[in-house]
Amino acid sequence: MRKLAITTTAIAAIALMALSGCSTRDAGTSGKSGDAAGFAKDARIGVALPSKTSENWVLAGQLFEDGLKAAGFKGDVQYAGASSTVADQQGQISSMVTKGAKVIIIGAQDGGQLGTQVKQAHDAGAVVIAYDRLILNTKDVDYYVAYDNEKVGELQGQALLDGMKKKFPDKKTFNIELFSGSSDDANAPVFFKGAMKILQPKIDDGTLKVVSGQTDIKQTATAGWKPENAQSRMDALLTSSYTSTELDGVLSPNDTLARAIINSVQKAGKDVPVVTGQDSEVESVKSIMAGIQYSTINKDTRALVKHAIQMVQDLQKGNKPETNSTEYNNGVKVVPTYLLPPELVTKDNAAESYANDPKLAPLTK
Ligand code: BGC
Repeated sequence: MRKLAITTTAIAAIALMALSGCSTRDAGTSGKSGDAAGFAKDARIGVALPSKTSENWVLAGQLFEDGLKAAGFKGDVQYAGASSTVADQQGQISSMVTKGAKVIIIGAQDGGQLGTQVKQAHDAGAVVIAYDRLILNTKDVDYYVAYDNEKVGELQGQALLDGMKKKFPDKKTFNIELFSGSSDDANAPVFFKGAMKILQPKIDDGTLKVVSGQTDIKQTATAGWKPENAQSRMDALLTSSYTSTELDGVLSPNDTLARAIINSVQKAGKDVPVVTGQDSEVESVKSIMAGIQYSTINKDTRALVKHAIQMVQDLQKGNKPETNSTEYNNGVKVVPTYLLPPELVTKDNAAESYANDPKLAPLTK
């Protein structure tokens, strides 16, 4: 069992469970599927996205607008604002239901706080698809489409290790710090769990030392995925633990936070450590090519949106969308899932990985 149920209210307990490999999968019941027996070709499709905390969300909105239109649907794409985000999204989903959306695709702002709205959607006969982030503790979510989040974490953990070995060939042990994502995002503990699968054994055998001692997900979390929060935590760590010690590597869960961490280190006048990332954001790809940030993850948003729209097209015809994983239990049920494979990117393989991306490919030349 690789994927676990997560509750945002009991994040620490769940993180512990996740890290100790406990399973909640068997607790799931297979809820009734909300598949509609087909619907009109020009039906209204709602897309509720979280606030724009990283470039992938900005890209997704436009791709959904364009893709749903090209497929003949009436797309209704909404974002949660920068504040009152949960309330915003709850209101937007309710309004999509009222307006008669046949499918509602949700990138949850807080996966634990949408139970009422997805029930409302189901009661009205709409199909609910969780996009990128799982919706927790409700039977009223029909499908989940995402990149393999745990694999993302594993790739990040491995990249941190490999990057440090390459950068410091003479060192046998390395000093590192750990950052994780926002605790209201169901993905954050999954990324962390994947990374710790690789890093924990190396902490245990003394190869890695987290000098601050902060290894618990509660200590490493970055509220709201906000770069200013990562930057101020890194500032504090440098002052408390690295005045006379070298920092060799930092596990960063995404690119926005990676750049904030790098900023902090540079401002302190220290050498940039090996820093991981995720999302292939333009500024981070530039930084990787310049030899500053070490790695990112290629999770092509175009492919993920395309797959979500494919699910809508299958439902429109009255068919069951294709799924390839039964590993995601949202605390109440195993949600039928389609996972796409993420890819690790460093300077070495960037040109190859982004060869088909007209925006990123030129940056690797
Ligand atoms: C997404 C990441 C993103 C993060 C912050 C996560 O749920 O999977 O790609 O970096 O949210 O926006």
